[in-house]
Amino acid sequence: MYEFLTGFMFWLALAICLIGMLVRIIFYFRGLSWQLDRVAYKEFPMSGFKGAVNSIYRWLIPFGTLGWRKQPLMTVLFFGFHAGAVLVPVFLVAHNLFLKEKLGFSFFALNPFVADILTWATVICGLLIILRRIALPKVRILTTWYDYFILFISLAPFISGLIARYELGDYSFWLTIHILLGEILLIAIPFTKLSHVVLFFASRAQIGMDFGIKRGGIKGTTLNW
Ligand code: HEM
Repeated sequence: MYEFLTGFMFWLALAICLIGMLVRIIFYFRGLSWQLDRVAYKEFPMSGFKGAVNSIYRWLIPFGTLGWRKQPLMTVLFFGFHAGAVLVPVFLVAHNLFLKEKLGFSFFALNPFVADILTWATVICGLLIILRRIALPKVRILTTWYDYFILFISLAPFISGLIARYELGDYSFWLTIHILLGEILLIAIPFTKLSHVVLFFASRAQIGMDFGIKRGGIKGTTLNW
């Protein structure tokens, strides 16, 4: 099982995830109205670019947007959850050793203590995000089983990773489960709302371009829109 998961299944999951994300990005931009969006974006590339960078950058800074400032608790939970969710899978020492063996290259590796803290933060903030969805009626009313399912498959690789890391049960069993859950997450990214891993950047860039060009931006100057 371990050989299968770290061999064929690893390549399959990685390929599905990377190709799937590329396809989602292409379809996102092809789905824009060429009259309303694409013409204006192409005509004013610099204003569009500035608007896109500004919009992405502000949303990636804690409390950087009005939206983040209006819900401080969610902002803390969101960044506590996402810091580890994004950094640990790519920059953990053990993952980089695996990458080096499989792909022949590795990234910078996180200090193991920092990686532990980030992973715990992901799990604790993730559980509090679930609690928030249950406890706050205004969030509960919008929540379906699909949201819990996404949270579950997002958290499961981190929880199983911690169980393996602290050797709370049989190490090889939990390591195998951890790899399986990680691959399920990779495969789920393009097909579920986890596609926001790339579509966040696509939609923020598009909305940023819209504001940089048509709404505010250069509206009222030479642009007739
Ligand atoms: C660069 C990468 C990523 C970006 C920019 C990003 C951004 C976002 C944003 C903007 C939201 C919506 C927050 C809100 O409701 O106000 C969100 C939610 C979420 N993200 Fe990410 N994300 C990224 C990577 C990931 C990864 C790798 C995972 C899984 C391991 C993940 C799992 C989730 C989950 C489960 C939610 C829903 C939280 C809830 O139920 O309220 N994200 N993300």
